[in-house]
Amino acid sequence: MKIVLAYSGGLDTTVAIRWLKETFNADVVTVSVDVGQSDDFKKLEERAYLAGAVKHYTIDAKEEFAKRFIAYDIIMNGLYEDVYPLSTALARPLIAEKTVEVAKKEETEYVAHGSTSKGNDQVRFDLAIKAMMPNAKIIAPARIWKMTREDEVKYARESGIPIKVESTKYSIDENLWGRSIEGDEIADPSVEVPEEAFEWTRRVKQGKLRLSIEFDRGIPIRVNGEKMSLVDLVKFLNSEVGKYGFGRVEHLENRVVGFKSRENYEVPAALVLISAHKDLEKTVYTPLELRFKKVADAQWTDLVYQGLWYEPLRETLQLVGEQMNKWVSGEVKVEIDGNGMRILGRDSKYSPYSDKIASYNKGWYPTDEMARGFIEIWGLHSLLTRQVRYG
Ligand code: ARG
Repeated sequence: MKIVLAYSGGLDTTVAIRWLKETFNADVVTVSVDVGQSDDFKKLEERAYLAGAVKHYTIDAKEEFAKRFIAYDIIMNGLYEDVYPLSTALARPLIAEKTVEVAKKEETEYVAHGSTSKGNDQVRFDLAIKAMMPNAKIIAPARIWKMTREDEVKYARESGIPIKVESTKYSIDENLWGRSIEGDEIADPSVEVPEEAFEWTRRVKQGKLRLSIEFDRGIPIRVNGEKMSLVDLVKFLNSEVGKYGFGRVEHLENRVVGFKSRENYEVPAALVLISAHKDLEKTVYTPLELRFKKVADAQWTDLVYQGLWYEPLRETLQLVGEQMNKWVSGEVKVEIDGNGMRILGRDSKYSPYSDKIASYNKGWYPTDEMARGFIEIWGLHSLLTRQVRYG
């Protein structure tokens, strides 16, 4: 029996290598997918072999993550419950896809992942694996074994498995789009998250940061005039904006598995890009388009969070988003400091804004007669209804 395991290099998946090998008498093949987390993939590979893997794959999926996932999070303004830019949620389907690709190559139906039975990630992994391989046999060791974190450490020590010396006591998930922080004492939502929990957003620069972001059909392509790939642009913003202490999200979030959990995020690039993108959409859309897009965005965001990446509606909504974003080109100027960000101005060749029409000082004015006629007809429904009800 051969099992292909999605391998993050953390405690759970490292222990899982040995556990799978012992429990199923299996050959374990590990897959580490680079979605922009700050890991040393050479070390990860060594650790996998030391824990007992027979073969290891490292797959660089950063470009694909940016193109197929992050780009749409921007186009669809994906902020779960208005605040969380879906960083962890978006990477899961891609990690699962890459793991299944390896399973196919290795000619096995056994696919394993490290998620527990309490999280959203198991839902995302299981459904993504099944979408890619309907006959897959999924094994989630952490849903089967009855080990606590301490038990896992003990198991690892006893079996001589080198575990990663965790740099923090929290449960961290990191990729190009964000850093998620949960667990330990901050699992209590009344407890303030201490400064040492953060890594991307420690304030080291004072003053204000000014950025001009250019979008082409909804996708950011330049910062301060400099053209960058989406991967580089996101990296650049995470690092630059983070230095000003901006990009933290505090969230008591409704998980798909039925309960609330306390999570913090460091997502500087995501917050800046989504805010700027929203501003540009507002600039070019008709009010009807703007209102409709919000509904499409919210639906897309819930599907992604809830593990339904392979629900056909998700793709349909993206097509709608893309079609509408044909006109979302232009530049947005923003200012950032530790306290927040604000939009300074925007410009788009597709903006229907007209100075002549909007200005109080010049140009076109409706006549008194036009204004009266408009207002009378505009309010007719409401006033007639009110009259028959209240006299
Ligand atoms: N709550 C987030 C989500 O469901 C992140 C989950 C992983 N978080 C973590 N700190 N390990 O998408």
